[in-house]
Amino acid sequence: MTLLANKQQNWNQRYQLKAITEPEAAYVLTANSHLLADKGRALDLACGLGANAIFLARKGYQVTAVDYSAVALEKLDRFAESENLSINSRLIDLENFEGALGNYDLIVVSYYLQRELFPLILSAINSGGMLFYQTFSGIADNMSGPKNAAFRLKRSELLALSSGHEILYYREDPDNCIGDDCFKGEVMIVVKRD
Ligand SMILES: C[S@@+](CC[C@H](N)C(=O)[O-])C[C@H]1O[C@@H](n2cnc3c(N)ncnc32)[C@H](O)[C@@H]1O
Repeated sequence: MTLLANKQQNWNQRYQLKAITEPEAAYVLTANSHLLADKGRALDLACGLGANAIFLARKGYQVTAVDYSAVALEKLDRFAESENLSINSRLIDLENFEGALGNYDLIVVSYYLQRELFPLILSAINSGGMLFYQTFSGIADNMSGPKNAAFRLKRSELLALSSGHEILYYREDPDNCIGDDCFKGEVMIVVKRD
């Protein structure tokens, strides 16, 4: 089995054990919900169980949810059907993807990093549309998230990846922050396309 197939299987096993209601929508999305419209086309990339997709569909968006875990997408499909939510799931391996993502008014990515996808993601956003991105940053230490530094953004890297676009929101807490409101080891951005 290849390394990729192995990782995919690991995600499937994890999702086998998780309830659809377990993950919460990303903070970058909920904290900035005042920026959302009451309709539009949205993409939740590497959606997992689709907490962001569910959040957006409940707000009125027509959502496409992409992941390579068939287990997660099946759970999401069943939930969307039971709640009559407009969520269309697509099984895609983003590491071996050559097509176009489509065109969206909003794209959300939480806790997934594939740097080379960034231009493709930004180009899939309609003029005036937004990218909501939240993922791990900094050094793994005892923090949650990937131990491999390659899968964590460097300080300010998300700003650099988004350069040339309007930044509506950015948050990257210092490594020594404390308390419930501290997002140590994470970074968030909302980018608006021209
Ligand atoms: C940490 S989870 C985040 C899930 C969701 N965005 C959330 O915030 O709850 C990372 C997700 O990326 C997906 N993933 C990892 N590699 C992928 C790939 N090559 N193609 C598509 N999805 C992938 C996994 O299946 C998993 O659902």
